Amino acid sequence: MKSGLKLGLIGCGKMGRALIEGALRDEIVSPGDVYVSSRTASAIQLITSELGVTALESNLEVARRCDVVLLCTKPTDIPLVLLELANESDCLTNTLLVSAAAGLTIEEQEKFLPIGVRFVRCMPNTPALIGQGAAAYSLGSSATDADAELTCKILGASGSVIEVKEHLINAVTGVSGSGPAYVYTFIEAMVDGGVAEGLSRSQALELAVRTVQGAASMVAETGLHPAMLRDMVTSPGGTTIEALCTLEEHGFRAAVTGAVRAASKKAEEMGRGGKG
Ligand SMILES: NC(=O)c1ccc[n+]([C@@H]2O[C@H](COP(=O)([O-])OP(=O)(O)OC[C@H]3O[C@@H](n4cnc5c(N)ncnc54)[C@H](OP(=O)(O)O)[C@@H]3O)[C@@H](O)[C@H]2O)c1
Repeated sequence: MKSGLKLGLIGCGKMGRALIEGALRDEIVSPGDVYVSSRTASAIQLITSELGVTALESNLEVARRCDVVLLCTKPTDIPLVLLELANESDCLTNTLLVSAAAGLTIEEQEKFLPIGVRFVRCMPNTPALIGQGAAAYSLGSSATDADAELTCKILGASGSVIEVKEHLINAVTGVSGSGPAYVYTFIEAMVDGGVAEGLSRSQALELAVRTVQGAASMVAETGLHPAMLRDMVTSPGGTTIEALCTLEEHGFRAAVTGAVRAASKKAEEMGRGGKG
């Protein structure tokens, strides 16, 4: 292992595990340099036995031991965790905290911490689990350029990462944080359509998944506007335009745009103390 970085995780759920797996897969860190804590023994046992990382007695111990700590509890649990760490603030002297909590602003999280603690707010997504994540982050008031680099390195191990101004993080939640769920629903609906037309479920699933992957790669690799790519496959009087008209009749575009905006708005409400 090259870096000697010690990486911590507080909250061993879906998101935290995905980020740790990415860091291990990309060899940003070795299992022996990853320390974790969580509320429930079963979550800790799963991650330690499957990834070979080390569980510590408490969140405080993780912060004390690590250079960077990923905070991956639910947003409602974040204040408690931050207060716990702040009570023994010596444990934060050399630690960068990276919080994935949806909706909570930097200010709302930093207010629980002593001034000067290096803090980053990020919004990853679960395809990080297979190295295909899309993440964004914003730096807290005391975070440095080196912290930005470190954040990019850790999040970048699980996919792509961009820096955004903090007021845009809720928009990121709407597009990529919650986005995988929209795509899963789209795939499921395509499969149902295929089954209704006589394909077996496995045939339809294979075709739908490859189609979504292929179309996404076309956008990424050609750099062409999605509308241009769509027009290129839409022959006059053909099958595709029939399908597109049906999608429009059912408000497909408005539904997707509305979904992104609803998730962004919900994230904003969660930050204002609404229930997540
Ligand atoms: N899932 C996503 O797609 C996604 C995407 C972007 C961002 N996020 C953000 O990532 C964070 C984690 O989400 P998730 O889906 O991974 O949630 P999750 O699966 O519920 O995991 C949260 C984990 O935190 C543990 N925890 C709760 N309180 C704790 C405490 N005081 N100390 C230590 N551990 C504690 C929970 O323990 P228990 O097992 O006892 O509940 C659970 O294992 C959230 O803030 C969410 O907004 C998630």
